[in-house]
Amino acid sequence: QKREMANEQIDGDNSGHFIRSQYQEKLALFDQEFMNGQSTSNLSMSSTVTQQTKTFEIETDKRIPKLGVMLVGLGGNNGATFVAGILANKLKMDWETKNGTMSANFFGSFTQSGTVHAGYKFNSKSNILEDVHLPVKDLLPMVDPCQFMISGWDISQANLYESCLRAKVLEPDLLKQLKGELESIKPLPAAFRGDFIASNQADRADNVINGTNIEIITKLREDIRLMKSQCDKVVVLWTANTEMYMLPEIDTMDKLHMMVSKNHELPASVLYCMAAIEERVLYLNGSPQNTFHKAIVEYARQKGSFIAGSDFKSGQTRYKTIMSDFLIGSGIRLSSVVSYNHLGNNDGKNLSEDKCFQSKKISKGGVLDDAIKSNKILYPEGKDKIDHDVIIRYIPFVGDSKRAIDEYSSQIFMNGINTIMSYNMCEDSLLAVPLMIDMVILGELFTRMRVNGEGLGPVLSYLSFFFKAPITNHSDYVINSYTRQRESLVNFLKVAAGLPLDSGTMMAFKY
Ligand code: NAI
Repeated sequence: QKREMANEQIDGDNSGHFIRSQYQEKLALFDQEFMNGQSTSNLSMSSTVTQQTKTFEIETDKRIPKLGVMLVGLGGNNGATFVAGILANKLKMDWETKNGTMSANFFGSFTQSGTVHAGYKFNSKSNILEDVHLPVKDLLPMVDPCQFMISGWDISQANLYESCLRAKVLEPDLLKQLKGELESIKPLPAAFRGDFIASNQADRADNVINGTNIEIITKLREDIRLMKSQCDKVVVLWTANTEMYMLPEIDTMDKLHMMVSKNHELPASVLYCMAAIEERVLYLNGSPQNTFHKAIVEYARQKGSFIAGSDFKSGQTRYKTIMSDFLIGSGIRLSSVVSYNHLGNNDGKNLSEDKCFQSKKISKGGVLDDAIKSNKILYPEGKDKIDHDVIIRYIPFVGDSKRAIDEYSSQIFMNGINTIMSYNMCEDSLLAVPLMIDMVILGELFTRMRVNGEGLGPVLSYLSFFFKAPITNHSDYVINSYTRQRESLVNFLKVAAGLPLDSGTMMAFKY
């Protein structure tokens, strides 16, 4: 099915407005009978593998829109830190701390502070090739985060200055300087379904839309339309409380529409997501709940809208998918992973209720599946499990400064045991906000791209790099590996920019 671009601004072909590139992908294609991952002699390999070549035309609209970012959970720790952090960068602010004067930066953001290996240049002095690295943000035309227009919803009516004080993430001297600007930002009344989040959140809920499902979706659509009228394009990002899973999943569109019209109790996230889909704006899910029911993905497909998620992969899980790349990639059998977290922010408070914790546990639980599948020597049938558990505790004293303690035990040569422990202490929101910026910027870019004449989506799976439990357009094919996620994202950006991919063989250095 051909998909229309969700951005009216780029309708109409004007070749001056597009970057066009062609990419030939070469895949090694094994016979269907090939036993995946079982050791095999080179001779039998040659009879079962062929090379498949496919050509892709990639088209990127160069016009950068004025972008409106609407956060669900604007007044939360992530929401408030997102707003204040971007303002501080936009105004190039400095502030005093006990460690000296600090300046605003975008460290931790892949697009703003990351670089990619783009190729080589010849150094005539040393007579050898040297590496060329390019900033990610220079590969293709991307929105500058300092130009975001930001608004959003929260069940708490506190203004953004009050929210920043409540979050206890940013330094007082910075907040004092931003006080006027932050006080002028107030969250819009929110869609609220208290049964789906922890009961301990009820005392925050003083800013909610009352009404039926249809009335709430209509109001959210009006909010989105108002934002649209002030800019070129809008992205909605859920960074509100983790909801409990909704089961059974909504599997058909008929059921979805019936549940909406008959006013069944639906999670707030489903209402926001439907409003975004109906307004054809990208909806990103930063929390673990299963907002993207089969029917929702289908609805997005039908409307030509875009979605991506779920659950920011910001700290412990990101590290876990790097550790498993390192261990299993080295031929070491990772056998147990035990993760303890404690945190004292409102997210931790919400997760202290079991129904919400279970969503987090599911989302954190599947991250090693593709690593296990990648190696049948270490994980043969019947021995294809890693003992993996995740424990989370709410400890108010530590505030947003989350502690993550992980133990990785592996079987090594001759069944020796190698145990590695890691201890990570960090303000959770300072890890999450750069990811939020990246997924908005890259997500928006992907809505301006076409491959062989079709838009990407409805699921923007290249954003998997930023999510703990990525959903894709092919639900059976999910990559969690940090290395593979980064490689596919970087390579896609590079080929779209017209750069040849690195083979990585280093053959150029042979002579
Ligand atoms: P938070 O609890 O400080 O903020 C959530 C905000 O959402 C609160 O202000 C709350 O009032 C608001 N809210 C609740 N229900 C709402 C609704 N229906 N509509 C609008 N607003 C609503 O939490 P924090 O720390 O900002 O995290 C946000 C989400 O991001 C959580 O679900 C968390 O699990 C997820 N997350 C955070 C990570 C991180 O901070 N490193 C990593 C992975 C996920």
